Amino acid sequence: MKNLIYFMIIILLSGSLHAQDSGIESILLPSPVFKGKVSIEEVLSKRRSVRHYEDNPLSIDDISQLLWAAYGVTKSHDSPAFLRGGLKTAPSAGALYPLELYLIAWNIDQLKNGIYKYFPEDHSLKLVMFGDKRDGLSAAALGQSWLKDAAGAIVYSAVFSRTSDKYGTRGEERYVCMDLGHSAQNVYLQGVALGIGTCAIGAFNDTELKELMNMPEDETLLYIMPIGKMEE
Ligand SMILES: Cc1cc2nc3c(=O)[nH]c(=O)nc-3n(C[C@H](O)[C@H](O)[C@H](O)COP(=O)(O)O)c2cc1C
Repeated sequence: MKNLIYFMIIILLSGSLHAQDSGIESILLPSPVFKGKVSIEEVLSKRRSVRHYEDNPLSIDDISQLLWAAYGVTKSHDSPAFLRGGLKTAPSAGALYPLELYLIAWNIDQLKNGIYKYFPEDHSLKLVMFGDKRDGLSAAALGQSWLKDAAGAIVYSAVFSRTSDKYGTRGEERYVCMDLGHSAQNVYLQGVALGIGTCAIGAFNDTELKELMNMPEDETLLYIMPIGKMEE
């Protein structure tokens, strides 16, 4: 809570500074909950790709829950370092965890518009940059303008070498995207349980989106998953 307040004060003071310039550290997300109101069977039977959203913000609790479901730690281990905090909600070939998750926020309570990176090891977000990125995101997604009606988007990338260094071509051509599928399905399912819709988007311009997000050279973009309150 102290971290959250500190983060909010800094954000209010710093306008639209670039994170690297602003020295802003990270925002600890609220703890996820481990008991929901609907059964896994009901969630599975209702899962659909959703492209229409209510014009309501998502809460920071929603974001915490979705990111935890996607790639949160379920069994803590301090080492080895590549575990980045421990075993996670999604399986990963060799427990090498090649995925990186970002949140692009434009209608999230208590979170200024911008791009944030998710850190599973302490269930935190670190600011990449401020700004409303929804137009740029939609343009990079080959003009899929419906995504702008969401409240934000989870964007997946992967550092392929984490897996291919050990598993070679098989790791590169199969395992990384298998890992992605496991994690992304968790976002779909957790979303249904919370009344939040999403849709996996694979159609986008890699160069444009990487540039928009100021993404490190060694990361390859994989999915955009807009997230927003499902219409009744
Ligand atoms: C690899 C992959 C890429 C996809 N890319 C897009 C996309 O760019 N835009 C879109 O609207 N839906 C996209 N989808 C969602 C599919 O259209 C959707 O899953 C399919 O129509 C089946 O519908 P359902 O998910 O509601 O069962 C993609 C799905 C997958 C698995």
